[in-house]
Amino acid sequence: MMEALDRLLAEARAELGAAADRAAVEAVRVKVLGKKGSLSGLLAGLRDLAPEERKAFGARANQAKAEIEGLIASRLTAVERSALEAELGRERLDVTLPGRRVAPTGHRHPVVQTLDDIVEIFARMGFEVVRGPEIELDYYNFEALNQPPGHPARDMQDTFYVDAEPLGDRQPASPVLLRSHTSPVQIRTMLRQPPPVRIVSPGRVYRRDDDPTHSPTFHQIEALYVDKRVSMGDLKWTIEQFVQAFFGKTFRIRLRPSFFPFVQPGAEVDMTCTLCGGKGCRTCKGTGFIEVLGAGMVHPQVLRNVGYDPEEVSGFAFGLGVDRFAMLRYGLDDLRQFFANDLRFLESF
Ligand code: FA5
Repeated sequence: MMEALDRLLAEARAELGAAADRAAVEAVRVKVLGKKGSLSGLLAGLRDLAPEERKAFGARANQAKAEIEGLIASRLTAVERSALEAELGRERLDVTLPGRRVAPTGHRHPVVQTLDDIVEIFARMGFEVVRGPEIELDYYNFEALNQPPGHPARDMQDTFYVDAEPLGDRQPASPVLLRSHTSPVQIRTMLRQPPPVRIVSPGRVYRRDDDPTHSPTFHQIEALYVDKRVSMGDLKWTIEQFVQAFFGKTFRIRLRPSFFPFVQPGAEVDMTCTLCGGKGCRTCKGTGFIEVLGAGMVHPQVLRNVGYDPEEVSGFAFGLGVDRFAMLRYGLDDLRQFFANDLRFLESF
C-alpha cells in the first residue's frame, strides 16, 4: 500500500506539473483528493491493516495529502499569472508609453473676455445684468427712443431689416430689424419695472459699417440708472470709476457735448489714449484722448414713453463699444481681426 501511495504522489506531481490552466489543476484535485478520488480509495484499505501499519500508513497518507494540497495551490497561482500575462500580451499594453493628447479645449474669445471683465466691474458697483433680443422691433430700437420714422438720426445707424413673415393674421406690431445698439433694452427694462432701475446690458449689435474701426457686427454694453435725483455728476463719476478699474488709476475721462435723440444733454466720453498715455500720438490725432462711448441724461420724453414721471425721477444712460475697448486693451489697429476667425491670432490672447 505504501508503494501505491508513493505512485499516487508521483503521478499527482507529474500531472500538476503538466496542468496548463485552472480547469486542468481542478481536474487533478478532484481525481486525487475528491470524495471518490484515488487517495480516498487507498484510505479505504486502511481497515485491512494491522494497527501499527495503519498508524504508519495514516501518517504517511496525511503527509502526501498536505504535499498535494500545497502543489495544487502553487500551481493555481502559476497558471493564473501566466493567463494574465498572456492577456496583457494580447492587448499590447505598454504602460511606459506617453499618454494620449487631450484635444485642446480652446478659450474665451478676446472680445468675450473683455465683455465679461467690463460687466464684472459694473456688477461690483451694484448694476444688475439683463439681456435683450438681437432681433428687435423698430419700436424699441428707434421709435420709443425718440426716433420716429424719417428721423435723420436713424441714418447714422442704418441697419438690417428682416422680412418678417406674417403668422396667420398676426402681423408684427412694427418693422423687425437686427438691433443697431443695446439702447432698446433701456425701454424693455423700464416698461417691465418701476424705478429705481440700475442695469447693464451686454450684447451683439449690427450696422451697415465696414472699415478698420467699424465692423458690421460688434458688441455694446448699455448702462441705465434711473432713480430720484440722479445727476450728470453721477454719470461722470460712474464712468470714471469704471475706466480706472479697467485700465488703471492714471486714466482720466472728459465729456464733450454731443447729440443722441434719447438723452438730454448728450455727451461723447473720451478717455486718456492708451497708446501714448495722453502725450498725443497718431491714434489719438495728437489730442491725448480717444472716444470710447456715448452717454447722457435720459430724455424726459423717453421716461414718459415708458410711464415714468420725469418730475419724480431722472436717470443717466451710456453705451460703450466693447470691441473698441478690446482693441485699446490689446493695442490692435484693426478691429476686424477679431472676427476673421484666424486661430493663430485668437490663440495669442
Ligand atoms: C450708440 O450706439 C448709443 N446707443 C450710445 C448711447 C447709449 C448714447 C445711451 C447715449 C445713451 P454710438 O453709435 O456712438 O452710440 O455707438 C456707441 C459706441 O459703439 C461707439 O462709441 C463705438 O465705441 C462703438 N461702435 C459704433 N459703431 C461701431 C462699429 N461699427 N464697430 C465697432 N464699434 C462701434
